[in-house]
Amino acid sequence: MTTAAAPADLGVIGGSGFYSFLEDTEHVKVTTPFGDPTDDIVIGDVGGRRVAFLARHGQGHRYPPHRLNYRANLWALRSVGVRQVLAPCAVGSLIREQGPGTVVVPDQVVDRTYGRDQTVYDEPGTVVHVSLADPYCPHGRSAVLGSPDSAAPGLDLVDGGTMVVINGPRFSTRAESLWHQAAGWSVVGMTGMPEAAIARELAMCFTSVCLVTDLDAGVDSGEAVSHTEVLRVFERNIEGLKSLLMDTIARMPAAVSDADATCGCRRALDGLSLPFT
Ligand code: ADE
Repeated sequence: MTTAAAPADLGVIGGSGFYSFLEDTEHVKVTTPFGDPTDDIVIGDVGGRRVAFLARHGQGHRYPPHRLNYRANLWALRSVGVRQVLAPCAVGSLIREQGPGTVVVPDQVVDRTYGRDQTVYDEPGTVVHVSLADPYCPHGRSAVLGSPDSAAPGLDLVDGGTMVVINGPRFSTRAESLWHQAAGWSVVGMTGMPEAAIARELAMCFTSVCLVTDLDAGVDSGEAVSHTEVLRVFERNIEGLKSLLMDTIARMPAAVSDADATCGCRRALDGLSLPFT
């Protein structure tokens, strides 16, 4: 593993469009017990803070959601010092009133993925069960939601909601989508899990920031969502989302030691003897 000269305590996992907000960058190649992350980690300065950025889908958006090495990605960020992750992602909305241009900061998640490596504690002899009752960091969520309207022009912030994560790469059928809606869930995406669970396994704070790009098939009775439409709407809102994240980073709580941390995320491994404790 190559270590950065100045480690980062804050990480962003997002599309490669986010690189541009970092200044004074260095590229760090990290290898992990789970193989390589989807890309080099780029560490740079945002408002005086060292922030580690990882392109979730790799250079040129190479890896589909079901083929991402979530374990290597989170482990790599942790290796360069990251303890607090902001995870922007594109989602479909299951609530008509929360259409494209809404940013949902969910407080719950339902995992409908399968066939993905779910845990970093896979070896016989290492039995670890972390709590995921509250999957997202209260401090991270408050920081995002505390952004003034001016920080996210054109975007409407929504506090809370349940993200259901499907395996993809296909979108939901109308019946699946109606079922998700009837269950009371608010947005549907493809990358939120096991990302959040693995972050918790590494005692990292994790906050999903979900940009709605479409109304999912059960909500919109017309043409169903298409990949092209998702990309088009994401592109249209990328500047607003970047601005929201930059503003959030400036207001994120300063890095504290495990002993001083007050959120459950950082206490997930208390009492255990593991590589990162
Ligand atoms: N990402 C963006 N829109 C989506 C949708 N409708 N379903 C799943 N993932 C998405």
